[in-house]
Parts: sequence; C-alpha cells; structure tokens
Amino acid sequence: MKRIITGIESIDKFTNGFPEGRTLLITGEAGSGKTIFGLQFANSCCLQNLTTAYITTEEDSEDLYLQSNAFNWDLKDCTEKGLLKFVELAQKRAEVTEAEVNVELDSMKGNFTKLLEIIPENCQALIIDNIGSYTAKLTPYEFRNQLDLLVYELKKRNITTLLILDSATSDEFNEIALYSVYGAINLMKRENPYTGRRERVMDIIKVRSTKTPTQFLTYEIGSNGIVINSAIDLQ
Ligand SMILES: Nc1ncnc2c1ncn2[C@@H]1O[C@H](COP(=O)(O)OP(=O)(O)OP(=O)(O)O)[C@@H](O)[C@H]1O
Ligand SMILES: [Mg+2]
Repeated sequence: MKRIITGIESIDKFTNGFPEGRTLLITGEAGSGKTIFGLQFANSCCLQNLTTAYITTEEDSEDLYLQSNAFNWDLKDCTEKGLLKFVELAQKRAEVTEAEVNVELDSMKGNFTKLLEIIPENCQALIIDNIGSYTAKLTPYEFRNQLDLLVYELKKRNITTLLILDSATSDEFNEIALYSVYGAINLMKRENPYTGRRERVMDIIKVRSTKTPTQFLTYEIGSNGIVINSAIDLQ
C-alpha cells in the first residue's frame, strides 16, 4: 500500500506515513491544533506533489495562509503552482444573501456528503476542516450513513483525506465516527500527574494495517508546527 507522509515527523518515521486513498479522522477540543495539523498535512502533500484541496468551513484562506506563514510553510506558493486549492465555505456563507445562506446551510447540514460535489477534479489529497459545521441536526444513524458514504466515495476516488471533527460534535458522534474511518487521532490537553503542568497530548487511536504507538504522545506547537516530544520506540 502506498503511503502519504503526513508531515508530523515522528509519526511518519514510526508508521511510514498514512495509507493512500484512506481517511484519517482528527478530533480535538478548541485550540488543540486540528487546523495546524491540517495545514501541516496540506504542506506535506504539496511537497509530495499531490494535488491538494483544503475545504474550510470556519476560517477564510487569508487567515490560513497567515497561520501557515508563521510556520514557514509557503502555501501561497503551493497555490500559485496549482498544487493547493482552498475551498472556502466560510467565505461563501458570508457573501451570499440570507435566503441563499439558508438554502445552502440547510441542505449541507442535512447531508454533508454534498461536500463530494465541491471537491476539485484531480484532487489527490483533501483536508475537510471542519465536518462538525454540518452535522448539527443529524441523528447518530444519519451521521453514520453519511460518513460511511463519504469515506467510501473518497476511497473510490483514491483521495487521501484528513477529516477534522471538533470536540463539541465529536462528543456526540466520535464513537460512531471511529468505525467508519481508516485511522483516527485525538488531540487534547491534560495535566501531567507528575509535574502538575498542562501539556498537549495526542492519542493515535488506530491506523488500520499500520503499527502505531499505544502510549499518549506529548507534542508541542512550535516554530515548525506540531512536533512530538515523546520518544516513540516501544516496539
Ligand atoms: N505560531 C504559533 N506558534 C505556536 N503556537 C501557535 C502558533 N499559532 C497558533 N498556536 C497555538 O495553536 C492553537 C490553535 O491551533 P488550531 O487553530 O490548530 O486549533 P484548532 O484545534 O483548529 O481549534 P478550533 O477548534 O478553534 O478550530 C492556538 O490556541 C495556539 O495555542
Ligand atoms: Mg480549527
């Protein structure tokens, strides 16, 4: 199975990357680093010459370019080279009239598989940040069905996907979502019982057909983005 380098160095060393054409779910609370993970992945995909799309439902591309620049990821350059495209649903929401907003939001909220219709042609790598914007009115049954369909279609198109789901939504749907996806990582903050200090930790819940570390990995968001501090040398 061909693997895609995620850009999180320690994880890539340990796992050899994430399987191509599969979906990796990223969950986490506000400020845990989900978007930074997404941008780091986008940058890494572009470095691998993959045609990449970033669907953003909350922030506009200007803010995402700015955030990327802080880590020296030149996503503007990737866009100019035709490798990266931001699809701004947040922007769309702001620009259309109120009536149109309702139609669009309502249809998307009732059925997030409609996202499939806006993925650019020839897309090889995709980030959806954040699917939680479109799941509010769904029952767990509907959520599961739609997620299964989304993941199935993405696999059929061989699009390696990073699917971001915020904690507010994932508290409700997380358990269900875990079964539909090929891999899942949860980002969180917790108090270190020894030092009493809060730290960022990452739980690689699963990656099918891949050796993964079982312990929580502590990480920092530094000048190069997300960096794992823990030694991953269990096996
Ligand atoms: N240049 C930077 N250097 C270090 N840390 C940063 C930098 N920029 C942002 N951060 C940290 O990253 C956090 C935000 O990360 P990010 O936007 O990826 O979170 P998120 O999980 O997407 O949050 P949300 O759920 O609100 O979308 C900030 O709260 C800040 O602590
Ligand atoms: Mg975010």
